[in-house]
Amino acid sequence: MVDFRGFRKIGLMEKTDSRLMCAQCHVEYNCNAGSQWSDGKKVGYDDQRTNHFPLTNAKGLLEHYRKLDFYDFKHAVTGARLIKLQHPEAETYAGSVHDRAGVQCHQCHMPKQKGKDGKVFSTHGVIRPKNHIKEACLGCHPKYTVEQKLYQIEAVQNYTKGKMRKAEYWLGQLIDTYTAAKRAGVAETVLAKAREKHEEAHVLWEYWTAENSDGFHNPDLARDSLTASIAASKEGVKVLKEAMEAQPAPAAK
Ligand code: HEC
Ligand code: HEC
Ligand code: HEC
Repeated sequence: MVDFRGFRKIGLMEKTDSRLMCAQCHVEYNCNAGSQWSDGKKVGYDDQRTNHFPLTNAKGLLEHYRKLDFYDFKHAVTGARLIKLQHPEAETYAGSVHDRAGVQCHQCHMPKQKGKDGKVFSTHGVIRPKNHIKEACLGCHPKYTVEQKLYQIEAVQNYTKGKMRKAEYWLGQLIDTYTAAKRAGVAETVLAKAREKHEEAHVLWEYWTAENSDGFHNPDLARDSLTASIAASKEGVKVLKEAMEAQPAPAAK
């Protein structure tokens, strides 16, 4: 740790690790005012919680923010307490197949390239690997062609995007069913249960709208999390529908 002119402390690493370097920015953080989970009270910029880094992936975030006693906004229809995510690339990458194999961010995003003078350099304009597969992937995967690696990336991305659309469909169903149940006079305890399911389903889905690799950084985590989002929405729809069916029919006019 070095002290910078008496006002800032800077940590120095013994070994370069781009996973940590990129994680200075490519993470979920809270940098906004919000409200308290427990009692809905406002949390302003004088509170440490408006400058907060969970460093937790999709599966642990809801629990994390509940413990921190903070949420970003309330849903206009259900009143569910929701989290707004930002670019959690580092948390997603942590624990992935590539991460466990010791691969770091810069090896795909700042690959070695040959300059016009024939000299090899590491590109410092961080690149999109899809546009530079030869440099970003084939160095470590020499048995593959550019087409095969592109196919692998797009297969994961298309699958993940499909799951995201399905999660959105079920979130929509949950919100619409909530409206119908409320109109039908379903008990507050049931509505509260549905709100809880909305809170759960939301984080598990929204995370992937904010993560920028469309699942490539950790396909398993994306699949698990989006599947769990769909399941939570479906459970919410189920409790609401059951309660509506149990409601007495409206009196005939
Ligand atoms: C100081 C903060 C910061 C750090 C550190 C940082 N980034 Fe970024 N990165 C950003 C921001 C902000 C953007 C969006 C820029 C824009 O939209 O114009 C971005 C964009 C990107 C993009 C998208 C580029 C494109 O063409 O759309 C990639 C890929 C990326 N960063 C990778 C990395 C990698 C890998 C590292 C570590 C080697 C890293 N970044 C470190 C802030 C950072
Ligand atoms: C094994 C290769 C690989 C590693 C390692 C890797 N990424 Fe990526 N990353 C990709 C691919 C593939 C995409 C998909 C987007 C593309 O290629 O156009 C992507 C997408 C991104 C994007 C979005 C780019 C855009 O166009 O909007 C960001 C930001 C990013 N990665 C950051 C990181 C960070 C930070 C790390 C380390 C924690 C990391 N990546 C590690 C392969 C990798
Ligand atoms: C620094 C070396 C390195 C780079 C760069 C790299 N990989 Fe890998 N990749 C590995 C290793 C090591 C594994 C672990 C499994 C293995 O032995 O194949 C792996 C595994 C994979 C897997 C199998 C994942 C699974 O679930 O089994 C895919 C798919 C893959 N890489 C695609 C890519 C793509 C696409 C790129 C370029 C964007 C890329 N890799 C860049 C080293 C690398």
